[in-house]
Amino acid sequence: MHKGKVLVTGGTGYIGSHTIIDLIESGYEPICVDNGCNSDPDTLEKVSMLTNKILAFYPIDLCDQTKLERIFNDHQFVGIIHFAALKAVGDSVKYPIQYFKNNLNSTLNILEMALKYGVKNLIFSSSCTVYGNAENIPVTEDTPWQEAESPYGRTKQMGEQIIKDSFKNTDHKAILLRYFNPAGAHTSGQLGEAPSTPAQNLVPVITETAIGKRNKMMVFGSDYATRDGSCIRDFIHIMDLARAHTQALDYLIEGNQISTTDVYNLGIGEGVTVLEAINAFEKVSGNQLNYEIGPRRPGDVIAIYANYEKANKNLGWSPKYGINEIMETAWEWEKNRSKVEDE
Ligand SMILES: NC(=O)c1ccc[n+]([C@@H]2O[C@H](COP(=O)([O-])OP(=O)(O)OC[C@H]3O[C@@H](n4cnc5c(N)ncnc54)[C@H](O)[C@@H]3O)[C@@H](O)[C@H]2O)c1
Repeated sequence: MHKGKVLVTGGTGYIGSHTIIDLIESGYEPICVDNGCNSDPDTLEKVSMLTNKILAFYPIDLCDQTKLERIFNDHQFVGIIHFAALKAVGDSVKYPIQYFKNNLNSTLNILEMALKYGVKNLIFSSSCTVYGNAENIPVTEDTPWQEAESPYGRTKQMGEQIIKDSFKNTDHKAILLRYFNPAGAHTSGQLGEAPSTPAQNLVPVITETAIGKRNKMMVFGSDYATRDGSCIRDFIHIMDLARAHTQALDYLIEGNQISTTDVYNLGIGEGVTVLEAINAFEKVSGNQLNYEIGPRRPGDVIAIYANYEKANKNLGWSPKYGINEIMETAWEWEKNRSKVEDE
């Protein structure tokens, strides 16, 4: 069944490319746009290989409204999934203007086009970073926001608010998905996280250390008030996360959402400490990781994990995978990726 065309922004990126696979498997026709500032357009070849589908691809910058509008002239969409953004927290502190310009202008352009061309359903990539150092965990969607920890976090808070205001008093609907820590790779081992800028998330840092791309890795802090002193995070498998987007889009298209905008947490509801994540990696890979315990890193949230009951109840979503599958698939992907790089 052809469920219609979906514009996927940031589609050659980590979460976008995995979501495109899930969308295709569910009967949607994704149309991809990405300027390649943090990804490789060749990713789409892998997606085609895994799905036997050739995708329409526009290698443009979303901040260029004239070019963006051409896509809306070329296609009629049933929905938009807006992933594209710059996402490195540290860089956002160094280059706040670049982050605000890119993340906000691209979102504003997408919203303007959605309204102009009557594309009624929008899914937006938000983040648990909007909660800051949350007072209570697990975090529910009603947990109050704290001051953003970085300009990146603020672009997510502002992005959410801009979408709410723009769709207010219209018949457009949006779902804001607040991801916790996406990790792992496609179960084929052929697709995974491959940023153009150095990886900063824990799981790729672990696998890159194990394969020898880094000499050692640092665990930031061992004296937090957690069960082993390291920070606690909620790691969600990339394929679970990808499926949540398809389910959220189905939900909107089927007319199930009454409010104009709604928000969902996407995590697996379990906190894993950094040291537990390292242990899980060592267990599934049989490798011993060269890591050092260092001082706390400024800006790190001590512990955060999700309550995902709302996504379960409304979207019918629940995670299939845990930290072991995350490490297994991430390791498989790292080994395959390194083989190709060596050739
Ligand atoms: N990965 C995470 O840990 C995480 C956590 C929470 C939220 N998010 C959000 O999810 C979304 C996707 O994240 P990801 O991990 O796949 O990141 P990613 O960097 O792999 O993908 C983002 C893609 O957007 C593209 N892009 C950026 N600005 C663009 C522009 N102006 N025009 C066209 N393309 C542009 C990049 O080239 C990249 O391919 C982002 O909005 C990110 O902020 C990610």
